[in-house]
Amino acid sequence: MKTFDTFIKTTLEEAKANSTYRTMRLLESAEASRVQIAGRDTLLLASNSYLDLCNEPELKQAAAGAVLQWGTGSGGARLTTGNKTPHEELERTIANFKGEEAAITFGTGYMANVGVISALCSKQIRANGDESWCYVLSDELNHASIIDGIRLSKARCFVYKHNDMADLQRAIDEARAEFAYMASEFEQTNSVKYSARYLIVTDAVFSMDGDLANLPELQKIAKANNCLLMIDEAHATGVIGKTGRGLAEHFNDKGIPCEHADVTVGTLSKAVGCEGGFVAGKQQLIDFLRNKARSFIFTTAMSPAMAQVAANNLRFIANHPERVQQLQENVRIFCKALKNAGVRLGGDQQDAHFGKLSELEPTSAIVPIIIGDEAAALAASAALLERGILIPAIRYPTVAKGQARLRASLMATHTKEELESAANAIAEVLK
Ligand SMILES: Cc1ncc(COP(=O)(O)O)c(C=O)c1O
Repeated sequence: MKTFDTFIKTTLEEAKANSTYRTMRLLESAEASRVQIAGRDTLLLASNSYLDLCNEPELKQAAAGAVLQWGTGSGGARLTTGNKTPHEELERTIANFKGEEAAITFGTGYMANVGVISALCSKQIRANGDESWCYVLSDELNHASIIDGIRLSKARCFVYKHNDMADLQRAIDEARAEFAYMASEFEQTNSVKYSARYLIVTDAVFSMDGDLANLPELQKIAKANNCLLMIDEAHATGVIGKTGRGLAEHFNDKGIPCEHADVTVGTLSKAVGCEGGFVAGKQQLIDFLRNKARSFIFTTAMSPAMAQVAANNLRFIANHPERVQQLQENVRIFCKALKNAGVRLGGDQQDAHFGKLSELEPTSAIVPIIIGDEAAALAASAALLERGILIPAIRYPTVAKGQARLRASLMATHTKEELESAANAIAEVLK
């Protein structure tokens, strides 16, 4: 017991000493573009509810009806008694929205990533003793839930430099060489046949940087190297592409032909304004996950009311592309205002993203302002809060040490005036 006390105490003390100790801020009103914090009206530039659907009157009304019809909980796992009509309707709605054959939902986006990667990438030992191993090629800035899924799978992981396609090819070549060596060593000592599977996995929109994965190039590399491609569209769904369908729509709109990835993960907790995660793809993939994804099987189904709410909110997005386009326009307004106020957007590693922003081309709804020092980022965030603007400071371990930043995220319902005055306030506190 004493050993754990010491472990816990020293961990907390060290976090306090290096400005990484975490506390929670209390918001006293519903998630919306303006919120109450410590009794004060505050501009929220920190929400994942990009389309401001959490607090949309017509959707809240429908949500109240969903609870009255379906009650408060699901009462069981999807494979026992938890599977209700709204769950299956939600999965059809997601598949339809994403233009995929089928979809399966999870309790959260985190659980979707952990479930799909651990299921797809675990070692397979066939009845005859033959083994199939998985190698994962993972972008260095992938979200923690992807990293945790890879760890849980126990697959060998090769990390490639952020969005660097040459380095991805290097990683694939290294993985193939390692497999060839290991398999030939093992095959010398037993009669088992070994084979390898390769999964490339990437965020669609990188959650702390806001830049986009190069889906067309990833697809070429995946095809050329016989890899499966998985993309996590947590921050892309409802945000990227003319109608919010995600990265494939975005590139096709720009005249760069692009198909969907083999495996698309998403969350219902961000632009969709609800809770839950999903995987969309071919029917066979979804059947496989229903059988093998442990974070789908061994947990209670999301409440049927929430499933109905999510389907309804998703249909709202499909019926209101102008809401998505307003969000994209707001990103343009905000970035232009920051530039005019003299705020340098992003650090060196952001060039790909902000090269585009210099032409005022929106990429995502996430706009990071890199500060570097952890304590300085905290101080800037606190100074903005004093002025009635909430933009969180993001620090290690969420981002690398020395890469602390203000991470602004925009909503479709922010007004031009709000965005311009926030940009000026940011310039002032960074002076
Ligand atoms: C890229 C990415 N994937 C997955 C998740 C997890 O989604 P959820 O919040 O629904 O668990 C997040 C954020 O939380 C994310 O940023």
